[in-house]
Amino acid sequence: MPDIGFLNGRFMPLADTMVPVEDRGYQFGDGVYEVIRTYRGVPFHLEAHLARLERSAKAIHLPVTFQAREWTEYIAQGIRLAGYAESKAYIQLTRGVAPRDHLFPDGVRPTAVMTIREMRPLDPAMRAEGVGLMTVEDLRWGRCDIKSVNLLPNVMARQRAKEAGAFEAVFVRAGKVTEGAVSNVMLVRGGTLVTAPDGPHILSGVTRGIVLSLARKEGVPVEERDIGVEELRRADEVFLTGTTVEVLPVVRVDGVQVGSGKPGPLTACLSARFRGSVG
Ligand code: PDD
Repeated sequence: MPDIGFLNGRFMPLADTMVPVEDRGYQFGDGVYEVIRTYRGVPFHLEAHLARLERSAKAIHLPVTFQAREWTEYIAQGIRLAGYAESKAYIQLTRGVAPRDHLFPDGVRPTAVMTIREMRPLDPAMRAEGVGLMTVEDLRWGRCDIKSVNLLPNVMARQRAKEAGAFEAVFVRAGKVTEGAVSNVMLVRGGTLVTAPDGPHILSGVTRGIVLSLARKEGVPVEERDIGVEELRRADEVFLTGTTVEVLPVVRVDGVQVGSGKPGPLTACLSARFRGSVG
């Protein structure tokens, strides 16, 4: 049974998985989510994703209806049912179905949805040659550390980037680079790896954490601090991290070449270390 859906504890074909119109995720974006991929069929850093799901839910006062060990079992079951070599699990928790009213509804069970789809790798040419970024004003709210389903600014930014011929949009808030629409951003300058600090303006990426610890293990100096737009443009190397992009070299920012115009050596090293760590 390919493309699996899951709704409140029940598996079914994805095409048959339906949520009522008055689900608060649909009407208010009142929910949180996670995206988890497999390597060799095994969910990658699942505990970290489930811990973040719990943090996100807690931050919006959403009761947790399934514990991490239940999700672990459901994800394994979904992956088995789908039968893909590599899968992508999407989990979404919303505040449930109730007549439209901004106030939290009483006695309503949150909606838990999961989809399991095939995980397809990015075009290898993009990985080999690097991609372009476009900077856009960060119009998102002040709690980007919560993985909320309110992704309209991300959707608008990434579409704008695509129309301008760039792969990813990079948000800039008050002159500082925060993160990408679907990824975290890192740069290399003089051998030091620099990325925006954890806090309310970025999602603390699971991949970000892994790559920072791989860099430290390699003896690379790491700075988690604010980055100016000019600093990004003048970096020796730039790359993205994320569940779907992994470690992806960047060779252009706003149409301006980064470094040599080719994926840089530290990016290549960390990409190789990351590949080596995935199973
Ligand atoms: N997004 N920042 C943002 C805004 C993201 O949406 C994501 C991931 C990341 C990277 O986080 P991680 O390394 O934990 O995947 C950073 C997922 C993949 C998505 O929305 O599809």
